[in-house]
Amino acid sequence: TQAPVNVTVTGAAGQIGYALLFRIASGQLLGPDTPVKLRLLEIPQAVKAAEGTAMELEDGAFPLLAGTDIFDDPKQAFEGANVALLVGARPRTKGMERGDLLEANGGIFKPQGEAINAGAADDIKVLVVGNPANTNALIARSHAPDVPAERFTAMTRLDHNRAIAQLARKLGVAVSEIRKMTIWGNHSATQYPDLFHAEVGGRIAAEAVNDEAWLANEFIPTVAKRGAAIIEARGASSAASAASAAIDHIHTWVNGTPEGDWTSMAVPSDGSYGVPEGLISSFPVTTRDGAYQIVQGLQIDDFSRARIDASVAELVEERDAVTKLGLV
Ligand code: NAI
Repeated sequence: TQAPVNVTVTGAAGQIGYALLFRIASGQLLGPDTPVKLRLLEIPQAVKAAEGTAMELEDGAFPLLAGTDIFDDPKQAFEGANVALLVGARPRTKGMERGDLLEANGGIFKPQGEAINAGAADDIKVLVVGNPANTNALIARSHAPDVPAERFTAMTRLDHNRAIAQLARKLGVAVSEIRKMTIWGNHSATQYPDLFHAEVGGRIAAEAVNDEAWLANEFIPTVAKRGAAIIEARGASSAASAASAAIDHIHTWVNGTPEGDWTSMAVPSDGSYGVPEGLISSFPVTTRDGAYQIVQGLQIDDFSRARIDASVAELVEERDAVTKLGLV
């Protein structure tokens, strides 16, 4: 049988961590033939809670779980990591300015990038979930010069899944009927979910919907503000759906997109679609044999162009702010 794959999860004692770890242990991240070893990273105050979760993982008697180790030192946590899920981040608290938020997260993602550079396995794949996810991924990547830049990605799969669900609901079709959904730009309220390339039963989704007012005034804001709606309803931010999207992101990256479909991932731009090179921005991507490619050659109309540009402008601002702070 295969040697276990080392999966490092940061913020393991948090809400997403609690939903995520059991699905990894059950084999849903990498597939039913791949044993995993969990390496959990937490801050010292939360190590005890992480130990409690590790006890529950043990109690799951998961056949694929080859062990769980807990660390409060990034250098140790990322040692030998094949997959890294960077979930722990500093949330924005009341009265906090954006600069403070970026700086606090720089204090987390800089040392984690350095630790990945120093000790992760050669095939390391990194997914940043913790917000601001795209820019946190940029910070981590810039401190890991020996790791190929394309291994640093950020999560827009939850937005992608939300967009599929909203479209399926509007058209009264199954989610499995929908292909080629794209989220462009930043994982933030400026993100652009694109129905001009998405397909429903082989038709372009925007044409199948045939309701531009719904698209502009309901669909896009509903997807972009879904996180706030979940907080309002649940009294806590999205956790199980975020964990599920993280599982989807890595599973798709490792196992490939189906023929005739693609997914959304925030990845370092190669300049495609006018997105400045190096920015970690969401694109339509296909994956195969553990690598991804940005889908090329899509026609972008004015409606989409304006929205992609607005979200990319926000990413440029975030990049400039962390550059000024000396974090990249
Ligand atoms: P949470 O607050 O429940 O858990 C975060 C955990 O991270 C805490 O246990 C904390 O101790 C830990 N942590 C903080 N600093 C750390 C460090 N330096 N090293 C290791 N662990 C550290 O938060 P929750 O709900 O689990 O969310 C985690 C992050 O995911 C947040 O930043 C949230 O905004 C983000 N998020 C991103 C989504 C996306 O679509 N990209 C969707 C939903 C949430």
